[in-house]
Amino acid sequence: MTEPLRVVAVSGSLHNPSKTDVLIDEILRQLGEELNVQAHIIRITDVGPQFAGVLNRSQLPRSVEDELRRVETADLLVVASPVYRASFTGLFKHFFDFVDQYALVDTPVLLAATGGSERHSLIVEHQLRPLFGFFQALTLPVGVYAHESDFDGYRIDSPLLVERIKTSIRRGLPLITSSVQEKRRIRQALDEGEQVDTGVAPQEPQKPVRLYT
Ligand SMILES: Cc1cc2nc3c(=O)[nH]c(=O)nc-3n(C[C@H](O)[C@H](O)[C@H](O)COP(=O)(O)O)c2cc1C
Repeated sequence: MTEPLRVVAVSGSLHNPSKTDVLIDEILRQLGEELNVQAHIIRITDVGPQFAGVLNRSQLPRSVEDELRRVETADLLVVASPVYRASFTGLFKHFFDFVDQYALVDTPVLLAATGGSERHSLIVEHQLRPLFGFFQALTLPVGVYAHESDFDGYRIDSPLLVERIKTSIRRGLPLITSSVQEKRRIRQALDEGEQVDTGVAPQEPQKPVRLYT
């Protein structure tokens, strides 16, 4: 791939400094060792106050709309949230509730979470994976979970965690590269005026859709 991979990371943390942000930084660092990436990080600490009380996408400020568009057009998403009451943070979910239902179809997504306890590691499988399954995204097979003792303050202090991230990326690489090549093939064909059957019904991005009908 000559064009850099457009990676968008979303951190659901409500704190700064944040262990979730530290985890995202390490994931992006390792991705950069494997692929030519152009990364953009969306932090709920930054954008949360701008959309927390907004119920409809049309009422969002431009800055949040721009972030949503980045998510919807990313080549790869890295999503990470701290565990709050056994799930992702409410504002992390509220942010993804604005994302178009079909915008993430076949987008590879690396799932990650941080928690205070080891006991909530299945948040990745029981909360994050179903959410991105709903979007018909390509969730990478190996998710990443980090807990309190993987950190020394706000620094990763766990060779096992570093290894887990490596495994997540290595196992995800075939999915990432094939999805990006397919996306670029479709884009090029469209640019050249060809009719392309993507297998996905076209949607007007802003049009509200009724779910489960
Ligand atoms: C309101 C709240 C609820 C939490 N609930 C859980 C929980 O259910 N399970 C858990 O393991 N950790 C829980 N934690 C701990 C955080 O998940 C943990 O400290 C996380 O690493 C914080 O990430 P951050 O530094 O990015 O904000 C909770 C923390 C807060 C503030």
